[in-house]
Amino acid sequence: MKTSVITMADIEQDRGLLKKAGQIIRQGGLVAFPTETVYGLGANGLDERACKRIYEAKGRPSDNPLILTVPDLAGATAVVARFSHLEKALIERFWPGPLTLVLPRKACVPDAATGGLDTVALRCPDHAICQAFLQEAGVPVAGPSANRSTRPSPTTAAEVLHDMDGRIDMIIDGGMCHIGVESTIIECTGPAEVTILRPGGVTPTMLAEVAESVVLDAPLVQGIGTPKAPGMKYRHYAPNAPMVVFVGTVERVATSIRQAYQEALAKGQNVGLLVSQEVADAVAAEHCYVWGTHGDVIALANQLYTGLLSFDTDRVDVILAEGVISKGLGLAVMNRMKKAAGGHVIEV
Ligand code: TXA
Ligand code: MG
Repeated sequence: MKTSVITMADIEQDRGLLKKAGQIIRQGGLVAFPTETVYGLGANGLDERACKRIYEAKGRPSDNPLILTVPDLAGATAVVARFSHLEKALIERFWPGPLTLVLPRKACVPDAATGGLDTVALRCPDHAICQAFLQEAGVPVAGPSANRSTRPSPTTAAEVLHDMDGRIDMIIDGGMCHIGVESTIIECTGPAEVTILRPGGVTPTMLAEVAESVVLDAPLVQGIGTPKAPGMKYRHYAPNAPMVVFVGTVERVATSIRQAYQEALAKGQNVGLLVSQEVADAVAAEHCYVWGTHGDVIALANQLYTGLLSFDTDRVDVILAEGVISKGLGLAVMNRMKKAAGGHVIEV
């Protein structure tokens, strides 16, 4: 299959290209599209066969359900059996935006989209090109991240092409995704209680503006038990090389990374650094990806996956990374870094 890449300069001028993309979706094909979090891999969410093609293209286990992407509340109503007051209030406050809600599904949603669950995850992206694409498709678009299973999610069209070339019909290039980590996934577990199944751009503090109580799905905190979001149990976000993450003050992180760097060099290893400018200045390594200034969690979220993927190109043997405090958006970033590092996070 030939994968075509279309570059969007102006939505109105390029409307014809989006119409083509919408047509591919309605005909059962696969189109990758930009969102404010990461690129999604789209198929008609009401078409069992099209959804199955997503699993094939990603190499994804079939018990890991897909998110359905909709342009607005009306789009969600077509596939959701009912909404509680709290769910409606959350949608009103955070859509369009990086919040995905797990809701009871209607019978029209195929098992292939839900992994056989009686719930469906709904997301409404805050991204003009994505919105125009969804309007043209005219159906809910199943949209998991557009990476091969276990790999870091793509935040540029080039990264999508790297994983999906020859596997999908089209990629809509809308530039770099500005948040850089996937949406927050929640489930309402009581009339006033929200449970976070995957941390993301909508933080616990933001959710607490609407819900009385906000809790984290226990397996995410304790690292034991089965997470409510099936995808959180898999190895994920992982670069090819093993990674160790250091968190602490600039001085301590710089000292620890310098020491680990020299030890790895002494073993003849090719080392990649994923660090702040301050630590890069202090260590001076050959393969260094600088994500921003120390503690700048927005910059780290934005650069994390591109940084991880750069080390696959550089073919390093080990990655030494600098993390941030697990608070606010940092909770999402450190959740992904911890998974990418197989749990290897050291507080210094
Ligand atoms: O930001 C995002 O959410 C991106 C962009 C492309 O929209 N999408 C994304 O999709 O991250 P994906 O498939 O990579 O992650 C979806 C997660 C998986 O962990 C899956 O297990 C969980 O959502 N999920 C989907 N449906 C669910 C359901 N009914 N109940 C619980 N978890 C569900
Ligand atoms: Mg994913």
